[in-house]
Amino acid sequence: MPTVSTAPGKVYLFGEHAVVYGEPAVPCAVERRATVTVEPRADGNVRVRAEDLSLDGFTVEYDAGTAGPAVDAPTDLLEAATGYVDEAVAQAREAADAADAGFDVEVESEIPLGAGLGSSAAVVVAAIDAATRSLGEPLEPVELADRAFRAEYTVQDGQASRADTFASTMGGAVRVEGDDCRRIDAPALPFVVGFDGGAGDTGKLVAGVRALREEHGFAADTVAAIGDLVREGERVLADAPAGEPADEATLEALGGLMDFDHGLLSALGVSARSLDSMVWAAREAGATGAKLTGAGGGGCIVALDPTDATETALAYTPACEEAFRAELATEGVRRIE
Ligand code: PMV
Repeated sequence: MPTVSTAPGKVYLFGEHAVVYGEPAVPCAVERRATVTVEPRADGNVRVRAEDLSLDGFTVEYDAGTAGPAVDAPTDLLEAATGYVDEAVAQAREAADAADAGFDVEVESEIPLGAGLGSSAAVVVAAIDAATRSLGEPLEPVELADRAFRAEYTVQDGQASRADTFASTMGGAVRVEGDDCRRIDAPALPFVVGFDGGAGDTGKLVAGVRALREEHGFAADTVAAIGDLVREGERVLADAPAGEPADEATLEALGGLMDFDHGLLSALGVSARSLDSMVWAAREAGATGAKLTGAGGGGCIVALDPTDATETALAYTPACEEAFRAELATEGVRRIE
């Protein structure tokens, strides 16, 4: 019998980059999911099928423990499809004390890759959950989030915060400060996402902010200002009735802080022309606020708008390849079968 789990992607309401220096951040899970189907294999091998990872669709088959599949596809795309799944499988084997377990793994994802929406985290969370269940060793959410973080940490050479994997496992709005992660109460938020079709280089962008921060006191102050802004945003979220659609005043207050956050991130050099262009299109369409989400440099913006106006405006913005609504996902990992 296959086991099937889905896990959501995320947007950063506030706080990316500053979170690297110990400031709080608020990522929110959104209703765009990765679905992973796992079936045990008797021969101990791992076979991965990834049709919808924004790749053209290919199937790879390889023996566990070997260097990887020999197929004619660009290395980074192969790593995207197999690196995260490999580490997820390693975590599941370790958790279930089943070093020789083999699996057929099928990945389907609605989340653009490497674009600030936590696609890899969603794949890893769903894969570990489905694989451990298929071995008869289901994990509690806290251990699942931790093992998913460790898998990302390994694949990304230590360049991973707990934000994506925690938000994807737990769902809802989350507060991250160092290793301290917790769910926080939040109203239902009408997120709209614009995607420029590209991706940023997270390692390079983080290094750029680090260099600026070391060189200029005012850059360090800018990072600290993002932390102040996040704390104010947390107060706005806490004052709004949890789970109910955010009222106009809440959306205005959160949107104003998102606009400010985007300005500070721009000052730190992590925006891009395409992101600025989508941010302005969203604001002009009536979004209460808009900002880049994730590392920046390219990828996605997130805006708040309960009406269709922002999604429509983004769809007509040349810099925008895809626009979609992505409501707050109150449920994290979900067991389908
Ligand atoms: O691109 P994403 O969604 O993985 O976000 C990166 C967020 C940073 O704060 C820039 C880095 C990090 O690991 O927290």
